[in-house]
Amino acid sequence: MSKLKILYVWEIPVRVTHWVNVLAIVTLCITGIFIGHPLSIGKSASGFTMGWIRFLHFTAAYVFAIGLAVRAYWSFVGNKYSNWRAFFPFLTADGRKKAAATFKYYTFIDRDLPHTVGHNAVASTAYFLVFLLYLGMIVTGFTLYSEHAPGGVMHKMLGWITHIFSNQTLRLIHHSFMWLIIGFVINHIYSCWLMDIKERGGIMSSMFSGYKSMEED
Ligand code: HEM
Ligand code: HEM
Repeated sequence: MSKLKILYVWEIPVRVTHWVNVLAIVTLCITGIFIGHPLSIGKSASGFTMGWIRFLHFTAAYVFAIGLAVRAYWSFVGNKYSNWRAFFPFLTADGRKKAAATFKYYTFIDRDLPHTVGHNAVASTAYFLVFLLYLGMIVTGFTLYSEHAPGGVMHKMLGWITHIFSNQTLRLIHHSFMWLIIGFVINHIYSCWLMDIKERGGIMSSMFSGYKSMEED
């Protein structure tokens, strides 16, 4: 039996931003669904339920945006597993080979799974697309938010977007992207679980502890 090597893969900022964003996204999805289908229409000053729900949405929105900004910064100063290059596996011949092999494994064409220490090539491409969705949520969300104060700094920065997309289009994009994120999350938890069983490298616990294990050969 070959010996196991223990590797420190996910540094603290990667883990903290992952879990902070998970909490923020769960809060944003729950409150967002209520914003789309309001519980009450606030006929009196005491009927402030939706006010609190919107307040929670906007608080989680700031946490989420800060989390993404910290992760983006870390992709320039962190280790090689968290570096921005890790999200573009198609730039190298080895990355393309690994992506093709992992894709074949996921689509049941091949039984062999190329073991990876950081994100596997298919996962990192999916994460890049998810980060783009995050950005889409932040831009559409803050643009909608800026409309409450047309003279404010935020509206001066983002108001031009409302000349390209109507308020309803922005809401539709914001709403649809939520379902794409939820679709990703379902697949993400399944894939992490699958890799945990197949690779036996402790991938699930690695997002808590930072460490993964690999056979030395
Ligand atoms: C993963 C992140 C997010 C999710 C899942 C999410 C979800 C939603 C959903 C489902 C709606 C209702 C849209 C509709 O059906 O009309 C909504 C509304 C809204 N969201 Fe988000 N959101 C997210 C991030 C953000 C961010 C970062 C902001 C920035 C401030 C934001 C600000 C808003 C605003 C201003 C509204 C409209 C509120 C209203 O008209 O009362 N959201 N969100
Ligand atoms: C709202 C729910 C979730 C979202 C949006 C999400 C999103 C992400 C993203 C964007 C990454 C890349 C991290 C980075 O490089 O900064 C990631 C990695 C990871 N997540 Fe999640 N995550 C969610 C929930 C979970 C849950 C519940 C688990 C399991 C307990 C989990 C386990 C992991 C693991 C193990 C990795 C590293 C996997 C790899 O190397 O490919 N995530 N997640």
